[in-house]
Amino acid sequence: MAYSTIKTDTKNSVTLIRLDRPDALNALNSELLGELATALSAADADPKVRAIVITGSEKAFAAGADIKEMSEKTFADMALSDFFAAEANTITAIRKPIIAAVAGYALGGGCELAMMCDFIIAADTAKFGQPEINLGIMAGLGGTQRLTRFVGKSKAMEMHLTGRFMDAAEAERSGLVSRVVPAAKLVEEALDVAGKIAEKSQIAVMAAKEAVNRSYETTMSEGLLFERRSFHALFATDDQSEGMDAFLEKRAPQFRDK
Ligand code: HXC
Repeated sequence: MAYSTIKTDTKNSVTLIRLDRPDALNALNSELLGELATALSAADADPKVRAIVITGSEKAFAAGADIKEMSEKTFADMALSDFFAAEANTITAIRKPIIAAVAGYALGGGCELAMMCDFIIAADTAKFGQPEINLGIMAGLGGTQRLTRFVGKSKAMEMHLTGRFMDAAEAERSGLVSRVVPAAKLVEEALDVAGKIAEKSQIAVMAAKEAVNRSYETTMSEGLLFERRSFHALFATDDQSEGMDAFLEKRAPQFRDK
């Protein structure tokens, strides 16, 4: 499918989606978020795809929702359209693993998009922030909830109220990103990690993703029960036998998603 604001490429079971509005630092407008949701849904439905990486440019993952598009909107426009909620719901419902590979600015909706992914690998040039307060608004794509869970109330509150940016080192220290790599190696590293995930049993990968995400939605005892039931269910798969046999026979497993 031809897109105008993103580029997609699938190799070795991994789909790389590159946000591509260079003149606007990949600002998220309706077209880009619509295309991203479509591309992610297509990758989720494609049996050849086992993991997804979303990245931007060297200068920006995404500098936020498109301020030009939002500038003329009224309360009624935003409320009645439930601005970008449908796209966010599509992105967060994707069942295959999604890695955000962030270089440069990940601001406002850009930071929120990165946090909707399963984990974030950052280039040493990455800068995260929720600067909506400088525009007289606030975060609207999950930033107040997700950033707070990643980095804690104090840091999240400071970032939302002052609009200050967090660099890659602080983001790693605070648990916002899983690790930091040199900018020149970012996409290669992210594809490498995605490739490693693609080699696992997809049934187990999806179950693990679902269970970790569950921890954000429920109590500890419900989450532990959910985990235990999913863990038990994996013993109904051929991939469990294959994984354990391969370990005992000192060979690499050949998972078949069965
Ligand atoms: C539209 C944007 C943009 C944005 C940058 N551009 N960010 N256009 N929306 N969010 C455009 C600029 O207008 C400019 O276009 C071009 O990209 C290059 O940006 P510069 O500002 O010239 O670059 P630089 O001086 O390097 O500064 C980079 C920057 C700055 C610090 C990232 O662009 C910036 O502060 N951007 C806005 C960040 C922000 O406030 N994000 C939150 C948005 S609100 P021209 O045509 O002039 O060359 C949001 C809400 C989410 O995200 C919730 C939605 C439901």
